[in-house]
Amino acid sequence: MAKRWSILCLLFAAVAVLLAAAPAESAIGVNWGTITLHKLSPPTVVDLLRDNHIRKVKLFDADPGVLRALMGSGIEVMVGIPNEMLALISSSSSAADSWVSQNLTRYMVRGGVNIKYVAVGNEPFLTSYSGQYQSYVLPALTNLQQSLSRANLVGAVKLVVPCNADAYESAALPSQGTFRSDLTQIMTQLVSFLNSNGSPFVVNIYPFLSLYGNSDFPEDYAFFDGTAHPVVDGPNVYYNAFDGNFDTLVSALSKIGYGQMPIVIGEVGWPTDGAISANLTAAKAFNQGLAYHVLGNKGTPLRPGVPPMDVYLFSLLDEDGKSVLPGNFERHWGIFSFDGQAKYQLNLGNGQLKNAKDVQYLPFRWCIAKPDRDPSAVDNHFRIACSFADCTTLNYGGSCNGIGAKGNISYAFNSYYQLQKQNPQSCDFDGVGMVTFLDPSIGECRFLVGVEDGKSSGFSLQTRWIITVLIIVGGFWLSFTI
Ligand SMILES: *[C@@H]1O[C@H](CO)[C@@H](O)[C@H](O)[C@H]1NC(C)=O
Ligand SMILES: *[C@@H]1O[C@H](CO)[C@@H](O)[C@H](O)[C@H]1NC(C)=O
Ligand SMILES: *[C@@H]1O[C@H](CO)[C@@H](O)[C@H](O)[C@H]1NC(C)=O
Repeated sequence: MAKRWSILCLLFAAVAVLLAAAPAESAIGVNWGTITLHKLSPPTVVDLLRDNHIRKVKLFDADPGVLRALMGSGIEVMVGIPNEMLALISSSSSAADSWVSQNLTRYMVRGGVNIKYVAVGNEPFLTSYSGQYQSYVLPALTNLQQSLSRANLVGAVKLVVPCNADAYESAALPSQGTFRSDLTQIMTQLVSFLNSNGSPFVVNIYPFLSLYGNSDFPEDYAFFDGTAHPVVDGPNVYYNAFDGNFDTLVSALSKIGYGQMPIVIGEVGWPTDGAISANLTAAKAFNQGLAYHVLGNKGTPLRPGVPPMDVYLFSLLDEDGKSVLPGNFERHWGIFSFDGQAKYQLNLGNGQLKNAKDVQYLPFRWCIAKPDRDPSAVDNHFRIACSFADCTTLNYGGSCNGIGAKGNISYAFNSYYQLQKQNPQSCDFDGVGMVTFLDPSIGECRFLVGVEDGKSSGFSLQTRWIITVLIIVGGFWLSFTI
């Protein structure tokens, strides 16, 4: 009997120590986009989130593979409805019902997905969309809210509309912020809808884009280490673009009568490649500065001590299938590369980033141009390879710019070969290509090896629990029988 009690006491002590040592969950979430040519299996990504204590994730759609992987994880999820679906959902309450039942109700079960928000559209008021989605947003919200009500999900799930920061503007100072004049009416209706349903305003803020798009923008104002040119706005002084932009929104909200509306940062981040100002040093400085700024609960001059309700970094992983219309940097926003490897040291409140485990790589081999062939003869192959695979790092400002003409060809050949899952024919290029087992990476320029996107055989959280319990019970049984 005494033996049994001492074992129990030991067990309780061990649990207490484990609980006390468990790190706090980070208040900072991430965007998990999946427009990638090399897809990590969703369970591997969920393990990556868990290992890094990232407890909030924002999705751009309702991918069943992704949602299944999130089941039982407890991670708080924002599910997205793409802009292309808004017209249908705005015109049909049964389409809204179907979306809710197929993409929400199904997962909101015991041991299911912890869905907190539904993002209705993604930056639907973006200037470059020329208003094509604008009129669908409020009717879609109305239909979805009724569907939520019919599904008894009104308390659990909030509808939001992530807006680009171009929805508001200011002549010069944050206190002069107003919503864009063509949006005044729609924003007033939107904010009133959000307010009556207890939803926050979601905004995407990108100091990187301000710096990239404007040669006069003071570089140090984009970061969080103070600036030689602070913005003085009456009694308030701004030392970084993030706070200035945030308070411009607060002012715009105040002017339509909702100065207290809670604000969530739907996207914020810094890319690492594809432009001069998109590099590892700058990305680390920005994201680390942002994390400390948010975790320090400083708030902004207009909301002192009140940090944004949630902040979602853009982005978790690189997405090499994204359009490069905004710029070559668009495929390089990840704090992790496509294969879940941390690009730089970053502390989101729980120590440095940890890499993805058990990544299923293709064999470690690469396709390059044969050394003795004239690369100028394969210009056509180069262009075709790069029209399918990602070659953005080769351009000016990219990590592979400057590897020479021959290096360019090899890089393009390899990108294509990995995209084709190392199919031997895809390294032929009329006899100019060859497979090598020596990593051809040069300095910062990484020649990638693809990953298997087959279904992972990793254990789910439930399975792990069962295994853990079996081990403990087994241990007890042994300690009594020996
Ligand atoms: C559920 O979401 C997926 C992914 O966004 C979408 O393709 C599908 O059409 C949605 N289902 C319904 C019934 O709307
Ligand atoms: C990285 O970006 C920063 C910020 O724009 C810039 O000042 C710096 O020169 C860049 N570094 C390199 C090596 O290009
Ligand atoms: C390599 O390719 C990039 C992108 O096409 C180009 O800008 C660069 O000039 C090329 N380098 C050489 C040496 O041809």
